[in-house]
Amino acid sequence: MIELVVYDDYQTLSRQTAKYIAELVRKKPNTVLGLATGSTPLGLYQELVHLYNEKEIDFKDVLTFNLDEYVGLPKEHPQSYYYFMNQHLFSKVNIAKNNIHFPRGIFTDPKEACREYEKQLTEVDHIDLQILGIGSNGHIGFNEPAKRMTLDTHITDLAPRTIQDNARFFNDSNEVPRQAITMGIGSIMRAKTILLMAHKESKAEAIDAIFSGVVDPNLPASILQLHSNVLVLVNKEVANRLHYRPPTIMVNQ
Ligand code: PGA
Repeated sequence: MIELVVYDDYQTLSRQTAKYIAELVRKKPNTVLGLATGSTPLGLYQELVHLYNEKEIDFKDVLTFNLDEYVGLPKEHPQSYYYFMNQHLFSKVNIAKNNIHFPRGIFTDPKEACREYEKQLTEVDHIDLQILGIGSNGHIGFNEPAKRMTLDTHITDLAPRTIQDNARFFNDSNEVPRQAITMGIGSIMRAKTILLMAHKESKAEAIDAIFSGVVDPNLPASILQLHSNVLVLVNKEVANRLHYRPPTIMVNQ
């Protein structure tokens, strides 16, 4: 089942998603969370830190797996995804260092780096709740548009549009790494629940692919149509630009 949930605004979307996660962690303290980086989940992480400070969520036994990392950026690099997660969530809550899982951006053997992450993912069997953003080209994680989808962790060339979209975080587009290591479509699809968040109108076209009835490797997010439990969480601005009208829940708050 794939449903669209429309929130009044980004803050409500972020707050409600954080509450959903807190509820899940209350029920299952060792929840396995799949986490995303980028501007979309920033509000969610702020709300999670707030709930943690209010003692509404305890990360002590939570395990996390991040979707992706730039190839060539060490953890300490301000644009690395590890740095992002540490800055916005990990350093602000009581998550155990050993419970944080990240694909390695620095390696000598790319195959070994992929195998290592895939092994860690296999050890937990599945992710309980996967948070996703979406690229304007339909990518999820760094599963970029391609002739076919890749199920396992892999190294990928970033699409020109992704490089362009992400240039805003760097001094100029030449500094954006050209490759990333990413969780594959298989691990994403094995997650019990998937929450895909989007609040920018520029994502509407990509989101349409999730409700189009067509699975297309050139629009990787379209594979989510085959998953049994996906919620697509958007604000009104995005919802108003969608061409398809899937089953919709309106949240006014
Ligand atoms: P954004 O990126 O959250 O910065 O818009 C999302 C993505 O590219 O997956």
